[in-house]
Amino acid sequence: MQSIDVYRSEFVSYMESKFVLQEPVNLYEPINYILRLGGKRLRPVLALLTTEIFDGNYKEALDAALAIEVFHNFSLVHDDIMDAAPVRRGQATVHEKWDTNTGILSGDAMLICAYQLFENYEPTTFRNLAKLFSKTALQVCEGQQYDVDFESREDVTLPEYLKMIEFKTAVPVAAAMKMGGIVANTSSENQELIYNFGLNLGIAFQLQDDYLDVFGDPKTFGKQVGGDIIENKKTILFIKAIESGSATYKKELLDLYSIQPKEPADKIEAVKAIFMESGAAASTQNAIESFTQKAFLILNELDISEEKKGVLRLFGENLMKRTV
Ligand code: IPE
Ligand code: IPE
Ligand code: MG
Ligand code: MG
Ligand code: MG
Repeated sequence: MQSIDVYRSEFVSYMESKFVLQEPVNLYEPINYILRLGGKRLRPVLALLTTEIFDGNYKEALDAALAIEVFHNFSLVHDDIMDAAPVRRGQATVHEKWDTNTGILSGDAMLICAYQLFENYEPTTFRNLAKLFSKTALQVCEGQQYDVDFESREDVTLPEYLKMIEFKTAVPVAAAMKMGGIVANTSSENQELIYNFGLNLGIAFQLQDDYLDVFGDPKTFGKQVGGDIIENKKTILFIKAIESGSATYKKELLDLYSIQPKEPADKIEAVKAIFMESGAAASTQNAIESFTQKAFLILNELDISEEKKGVLRLFGENLMKRTV
C-alpha cells in the first residue's frame, strides 16, 4: 500500500501524460484546463487505493481511475452550465472562460474519452468496467434531472432528496471503489460491500458539499458560496428547516425561495440565518456523521485485514473534516 499522496501524484502524472493539447484547440484546451485545475482527485484515489486494499497493483487501475476522473470533470463542466456557476476550484468555469457551446462539446468529448480508456483492459475486465460505468453514468443523469426538477418544487421530501444525491454523487464514488475491486479481481461479495461502503461515504460527501455551499469559507471552498441558495436548490438544509416545525421559518423560507434577486447577498444572509436558527445546520452535521458511521459498519463484513480497514476508516474520517 502507498500513501494517499502517492496515489494522488501518480494519478496526476499519468493523467497529464495522457491529456496533451491537440487540434482542434478550441475543443481540447477547455478539457486540459478543467483537468489541470486541481481538485481533490477523490474518485481516482479511491479507485487506486481500493485496488491495493484487495491485493491488486494500483498501476493496473490507472486507466479506470482516469476514466472516472474524466467522467467526473465532464459532469462538472455540464453541471456548471446547468447551475449557472461562475467559479470552480477557485477559477472561472469553462462556460464562463469560453462559452456555453464550448462547455457542451468539450464535455461530450470528455465522456467519450472516459469510455475509450476501458479499451485498454482485457475482454472480461473491460466488460465488467464498462457495464458498471454505463449504469453509473446514466444514474448520474437521473440524479441531475431530479436536482433540477426539485428547484421548482416546494414539497421535496428527505427520502427524495437522499435518492437524488445518491444518484448524482454517491453512485460514482461507489463505482470508483468497485472498479478497484474489479481490477484486483476480488470476490463479488467484496465488490458489493466496497460499493456500499462508497455509497454511504458518497452520500455523506454530498451532504457536506451542501453544507459547505452555505457555510464554507469562499477562500478554501473554491466555489461560489451561496450558489445553491441563489439557484433555490432543495438541499438537506432547506428540507430540515421546513421540517423543523416552525411555521414562521417555513413561510419566510418559502418566500425567500420564490424570489430571484439581482443582488442576492441579502437573500443568502436571511436563508443562512434560518438554516442556523431552525437547527437545520446542526441536523445536517448529524446526518453527515451518521452516513459516515453507516459506511464504517460495512467494514466489519469485508474480508480484508484490520490494518486495511483502518486505512479506509481514516480516509472517511479525513473526508468529514474537509473544507474544500
Ligand atoms: C464536486 O465534486 C461535485 C460533487 C459531487 C459535490 P468534488 O468535491 O469531488 O470536486 P473536485 O474534483 O474535488 O473539485
Ligand atoms: C453536482 O452536484 C453533482 C454532479 C456534478 C454530477 P453540485 O451541483 O452540488 O456540485 P457542485 O457544488 O457544483 O460542485
Ligand atoms: Mg453545481
Ligand atoms: Mg448541480
Ligand atoms: Mg454543491
